[in-house]
Amino acid sequence: KQISIAIDGPAAAGKSTVAKIIAETLSYIYVDTGAMYRALTYQAQKNQVDLQNEEELLHLLNETVIDLKPSESGQVVILNGQNVTSEIRSAEVTNSVSLVAKHRAVREEMVARQQGLAKDGGVVMDGRDIGTHVLPHAEVKIFLLASVDERAQRRHDENIKKGFESNLERLKEEIARRDKLDSEREVAPLKKAEDAIEIDTTSLSIEGVVEKILSITKE
Ligand code: C5P
Repeated sequence: KQISIAIDGPAAAGKSTVAKIIAETLSYIYVDTGAMYRALTYQAQKNQVDLQNEEELLHLLNETVIDLKPSESGQVVILNGQNVTSEIRSAEVTNSVSLVAKHRAVREEMVARQQGLAKDGGVVMDGRDIGTHVLPHAEVKIFLLASVDERAQRRHDENIKKGFESNLERLKEEIARRDKLDSEREVAPLKKAEDAIEIDTTSLSIEGVVEKILSITKE
C-alpha cells in the first residue's frame, strides 16, 4: 500500500536530504513544501510586493504556478515555467520566507495545493506543519531535531564544500531567528504532532536517520 510520510522539524535539520532518499528508496514522490513558500517569496520580491500585505501575496500566489520536478541532481523548482531552483536558496529569500509563510490566506492556498499533490498517497512530504495540518492522517509522522550548533555546522560545511562564502556565527543566528518566527507565528506554527516520532539527529549520520525512518515505515 502506498502511504504518506510526513517529516517536520526546524530549519536545516536535514529534512529534505532524508526525505529525498526515502522517496527514492520507496519510489514515492517527494514534496518539499518549504520550496513552495520560498518560490512565492522570490516571486514577491521580484514583483516588489509588500511581504506584510496578505491580500497582495494571495493574489500573486493565485497567478503563480509552482512545479516541483524530480531530476538527477535532486528536485527542480519551476515557477511559471522558469527554473528558480538556485534562486530560492539565496540569503535574501531565506531571511524573508518566514514573513510570507505566516499569513493565513497564503497558508490555506499552499496547504490545499500540497494536499492535492498527496491525494493518491505514495508521498514523502517535508515542512513545518505536515503532520499537524497538511496530512493529519499520514501513516508515518516524523519530527527531526538537532541542536542549533549542529545544524549551523552542517549548513556551513555544505556551503564550504560547494565553494560558497559562509559564516558559522551568522548561520547560527539566521537559523535561530527563523525557528523563532516559525514556532511563534499564530497560524500553524512549527510544532511536533502529538503522534509524531521524534528523532534527534545530532549524533546520527544521514544513513542512520534514513534507516530509522524506513524501519518505522515497515512496522
Ligand atoms: O524547509 P525550508 O527551510 O526550505 O522552509 C523555508 C520556510 O518556509 C520556513 O522557514 C517556514 O517559514 C516556511 N515553511 C512553512 N511551512 C512549511 C514549510 C516551510 O511555514 N510546511
